[in-house]
Amino acid sequence: FYADIYVEDGLIKQIGENLIVPSGVKTVDAYSQIVVPGGIDVHTRLQMPVMGMSSADDFYQGTKAALAGGTTMIIDHVFPDAGTSLLAAYEQWRECADSKACCDYSLHVDIPRWHESLKEELEALVKDKGVNSFLVFMAYKDKLQCTDAQMYEIFSIIRDLGAIAQVHAENGDIIDEEQKRLLDLGITGPEGHVLSRPEEVEAEAVYRAITIAKQANCPLYITKIMSKGAADVLAQAKRKGTVVYGEPITASLGTDGSHYWSKNWAKAAAFVTSPPISPDPSTPDRLTSLLSCGDLQVVGSAHCTFTTAQKAVGKDNFTLIPEGTNGIEERMAIIWEKCVVPGKMDENDFVAVTSTNAAKIFNCYPRKGRIAVGSDADLVLWNPKATKIISAKTHNLSVRKGSGCLLVAFYPWFSRLQTSPN
Ligand SMILES: *[C@@H]1O[C@H](CO)[C@@H](O)[C@H](O)[C@H]1NC(C)=O
Ligand SMILES: *[C@@H]1O[C@H](CO)[C@@H](O)[C@H](O)[C@H]1NC(C)=O
Repeated sequence: FYADIYVEDGLIKQIGENLIVPSGVKTVDAYSQIVVPGGIDVHTRLQMPVMGMSSADDFYQGTKAALAGGTTMIIDHVFPDAGTSLLAAYEQWRECADSKACCDYSLHVDIPRWHESLKEELEALVKDKGVNSFLVFMAYKDKLQCTDAQMYEIFSIIRDLGAIAQVHAENGDIIDEEQKRLLDLGITGPEGHVLSRPEEVEAEAVYRAITIAKQANCPLYITKIMSKGAADVLAQAKRKGTVVYGEPITASLGTDGSHYWSKNWAKAAAFVTSPPISPDPSTPDRLTSLLSCGDLQVVGSAHCTFTTAQKAVGKDNFTLIPEGTNGIEERMAIIWEKCVVPGKMDENDFVAVTSTNAAKIFNCYPRKGRIAVGSDADLVLWNPKATKIISAKTHNLSVRKGSGCLLVAFYPWFSRLQTSPN
């Protein structure tokens, strides 16, 4: 609808026509644009520590890029090191983010291993720190992987605390076997990554996670829905009434995984993320359809970038390539381009999947995710007619400074977007 919005002290104070406002108020003319609630990127990993390195975009560059793309809040993942308590890791993330973040942020806490004092730690995080989501891993055998019994126990604790469980859903045992088999065959390049993680291992884990969460009566959120099989399993469970949410990401909506076979190693390695980007070219279309009809609910970026030099740690062994792709800046434009432009979604659906649903699931609605009197003034002017060519030269990430730069490789896939935030 057509209206003016009056903002004071970061809050929305009035909405309507012919508002009476104090003199000297700064006016921004939004004529011919739409005003939407700021985007919420539910999944980022900024300056994430991996194998003695740190992902290329820190909280400053990452959140600056987020803002440039219309996202005003991110939810980053705290990833506790072996030997660090969850609480200490949470404080560490707060310290990093507080000194650098340009936009609002919140934190999920990952549970990298089962331990005796877990229950007390989760309770302290929920009650004292306001954390309301925790992630467990079904993959990364002998490192992060949880057993089914551990998942059941963790889900039960999370349920009692009134929080939500997140899972990284892939069958880690099978992946481990496949990795060994492929390396034995002499397959060491990035194609080994996707060959060792066939789509069934994602779909199977999604099904198992849903089954376990249902037994424990715990709401479930599946991060990184990358394949049609996984999305279909989730959609079916949802339609049967299970409380489960699914998160496709910028990369799974925007591209496919055919480039794992590229002769250009850096390009192929740039796509390495888990679960892998599906090599099936019809995947983005299916995921955007399921997102449009409400079977999938939110889109994250899973932004976790590494320069080509960093990815090159896995030059002779695909299991060592640090995992992650970009997407924090492009997330909203990709959804607009792939869902709204072809008519799968209207502008309201767009707001739901980029902002409102996330605010509801992670318990910050209606302060976030809504334009209403009393809500935070996280407002984005979106120009539905603008066009933009995404390129490594113009985006706001620091990863482009890395030699060779993964985005040179990744970007052509997202190019010629017809729309962007103004
Ligand atoms: C590849 O790396 C893995 C660790 O992820 C190691 O177990 C394996 O031996 C390495 N294989 C080769 C062929 O370098
Ligand atoms: C950053 O984002 C803004 C807004 O989209 C854009 O104008 C600018 O070109 C981008 N790139 C850099 C390098 O600042």
